[in-house]
Amino acid sequence: MADLDYSNLHPDTLAVRAGTHRTEFGEHSDAMFLTSSFVVETAEEAQLKFTGQVPGFIYSRFTNPTVSAFEERLAAMEGAERAVATASGMSAILSLCMAHLKSGDHILASSVLFGSTMQLFNNYLAKFGVEVTYASPVDLAEWHAGVRPNTRMFFLETPSNPLIDVADIRAIADVAHANNALLVVDNCFCSPALQQPLKLGADIVVHSATKYIDGQGRVLGGAVVGSSALIEPVYLFLRTAGPTLSPFNAWVLLKGLETLSLRMKAHSENAIKLARWLETHPEVEHVYYSGLKSHPQHELANRQQSGHGGVVSFDVKGGKDAAWRIIDRVQLMSRTANLGDVRTTISHPATTSHGRLTQEARNRAGIGDGLIRISVGLEHIGDLIADLERGFSA
Ligand SMILES: Cc1ncc(COP(=O)(O)O)c(C=O)c1O
Repeated sequence: MADLDYSNLHPDTLAVRAGTHRTEFGEHSDAMFLTSSFVVETAEEAQLKFTGQVPGFIYSRFTNPTVSAFEERLAAMEGAERAVATASGMSAILSLCMAHLKSGDHILASSVLFGSTMQLFNNYLAKFGVEVTYASPVDLAEWHAGVRPNTRMFFLETPSNPLIDVADIRAIADVAHANNALLVVDNCFCSPALQQPLKLGADIVVHSATKYIDGQGRVLGGAVVGSSALIEPVYLFLRTAGPTLSPFNAWVLLKGLETLSLRMKAHSENAIKLARWLETHPEVEHVYYSGLKSHPQHELANRQQSGHGGVVSFDVKGGKDAAWRIIDRVQLMSRTANLGDVRTTISHPATTSHGRLTQEARNRAGIGDGLIRISVGLEHIGDLIADLERGFSA
């Protein structure tokens, strides 16, 4: 098949077409290459491939045709030169840090991040002499003030997990670049279907493909996306250290990308209905969803995202006991910490995804004991509201 010119194609088209390289059999859907290594014809060919003098597949820790098809499709959708796929979202973040940071460097990170990302920064990178300090995702002055002479990387999630804070990517990118630092955006909550951070000035995007990219709660995966120059060192780390994506998972994720845009629209439509209903509920203190007019960054989200996504969080009156009671009483929603699934999931961040943070870090992030996070799936909205009503009825 002739190579497509991706530059003129809409992301919806890229989601179903990019990365397709048919074999001699002419298969219409992408083939899955379950092989750990690849055979060469001669010893010389092996040497040329190993030294990178000729392209080609060698060993699936390095890469694999199914994995590279996923990488090519995702890069096209993010408007990037290159992506590398990883075994999970956390291995994407780890690989990025191993490739681009060294002892003595400093990360300036958003104070509202996925719990394991903070653990990685605080407990593991710190062991190797990488410093991390935090800035509010919604206060530009803190990013200006937080820069140090050794700051190499700004890291943020937008919208954030679980409070749906929306950071101004372009404004924070300008601060990073004025200080010779890279801006990394975790684009897990929006996915490239709703937001393309590289087009807003970010240098690197990371993904937990486990979430919306798979979209059906089947496999783990991740990716690091950006310019060829910034991704090559990440690839070299992955090829050496090995937290690479399996070809089977890559195939599932390729299929996930094909329906991503439709799913994100449907998730967003259900989520805004649920958020509006929650806003009127007497037992609810606050609803966090950027699609609501009451959200402090509603206008910014409208500018930099083409939709608001499927995650809605809310504080209930009565703290942890009330939150746990609601979670225990729902019958349709799944009690699980995963998100981005076609099935609605419900969780209590303070004791699950963000439970390993100190109370002080949770307070700083605004994650209270009464906070419930719902990843709104594709069930009928009437059934979801009825399920939550059951949860509230004590
Ligand atoms: C925003 C965000 N980033 C990264 C991750 C880590 O991804 P994974 O579980 O695929 O390692 C998660 C997981 O929930 C997440 O919510």
